[in-house]
Amino acid sequence: MMNNNYNILEEELKKHSIFKDESKLSFDYVPLYLPHRNEKLRQIAQFFKVIIEKPGGMSQKLIIHGSNGTGKTAVVKRFGAMIEETAEKRDIKLKFLHLNCRKNKTEYMILKNIINVFNKAIPKRGFSSEELLQILIEILELDDYFLILTLDDLDIKENQLLYDLTRLMDDELNPIQRLSLIIIAKDLNFIKTLEKGTISTLQKNHIFFEKYSSSQLYDILKMRCDEAFYDNTVLDESLYLISDIASEFGDARYALELLWRAGKYVDINQSPQISPEYVRQAQSHISPVVRSNLIKDLTLDQKLLLLTIARQFKHKEKAYLSMKEVENGYILICEEYQTKAKKHTKIWENIQELNNLGVINSKLSGPGIRGKTTLIALSDVPSETIENNLISQLQKEIEV
Ligand SMILES: Nc1ncnc2c1ncn2[C@@H]1O[C@H](COP(=O)(O)OP(=O)(O)OP(=O)(O)O)[C@@H](O)[C@H]1O
Ligand SMILES: [Mg+2]
Repeated sequence: MMNNNYNILEEELKKHSIFKDESKLSFDYVPLYLPHRNEKLRQIAQFFKVIIEKPGGMSQKLIIHGSNGTGKTAVVKRFGAMIEETAEKRDIKLKFLHLNCRKNKTEYMILKNIINVFNKAIPKRGFSSEELLQILIEILELDDYFLILTLDDLDIKENQLLYDLTRLMDDELNPIQRLSLIIIAKDLNFIKTLEKGTISTLQKNHIFFEKYSSSQLYDILKMRCDEAFYDNTVLDESLYLISDIASEFGDARYALELLWRAGKYVDINQSPQISPEYVRQAQSHISPVVRSNLIKDLTLDQKLLLLTIARQFKHKEKAYLSMKEVENGYILICEEYQTKAKKHTKIWENIQELNNLGVINSKLSGPGIRGKTTLIALSDVPSETIENNLISQLQKEIEV
């Protein structure tokens, strides 16, 4: 006879889990203590302490650069919390604001988001970026606020905004300096695209975040384990293995994702501990490039383009695709997802951006193919893995 009370959710809830608090492994969570990054925090603090000592006296500009998962975002956010707390104790009205430029793409969006933080509604009529900038200055003046603005993942290019902001900060008619800037980027290449005036004001100060070594990754993982898992559920050998695997990239995010996934496999199997075998299982399922957050942050168009490329590779025994093949496939995928396909120039820009992110490799054709064309390859990731990941991301996106 069927049991009326049969409830799969209840059954799942009764299952044993090794996770004490899974959210402590999420990418957005910033732990209170960041092993091996004290020195960086101190450098940033030395740089910005003048804002607390002499509010309005001068503004600061700092560039932070380093490869994926080296703790740039986490350290800057931790610093932000620190300086807000310190300012509050001293009755200084200071706001620290972190904005991801991969999500907020235009100068207008970035400025709008900043102003929203000050709880000021922007009237509906279309303001120009210049007017928004003016509104921001007025808010800061009127409410006597100081702002430390962090523009994260700036590699993408927002030259005009940087130009406007740095000019504003250099403005000598501006006796009280209310705005400071932290820019986070993978490398310093973006500087080359700026114009001279902006370069000279930005160039001076930068802090480089080195890749983590295996033993540093071990310390990071160990500490995060204590927050996320019950005691004695993670074997030390497993942590060493994860640290070794991720040290090839020096990437703490990759290490944490391996740990999280290994934990998930343990739960699925209702095992008591993360043994190295579960780490290997996790490793085989995540390629560094497919790391979900990289794909998650792509624009819808970039996702569709990448899906096109992945699908074409699945069906063809080829190492490279031509731009033409990609464009033709992309138009079909846009139809499938009922989205308007972008024009050639925009497609090309998106290809460049996917290339910059390391998801694909593009190069100009050499001899053998008539006329120069851009050739596109996937980075060393199975096309099927990328395809599956994209399909599930797109499903989420299109449902919303
Ligand atoms: N020293 C550390 N201690 C604990 N956790 C860390 C440390 N460094 C990084 N992490 C964690 O690793 C993950 C990646 O770090 P973070 O996002 O700061 O890297 P990033 O340098 O900003 O990378 P990307 O350039 O890809 O944005 C985050 O979940 C972060 O909390
Ligand atoms: Mg980051």
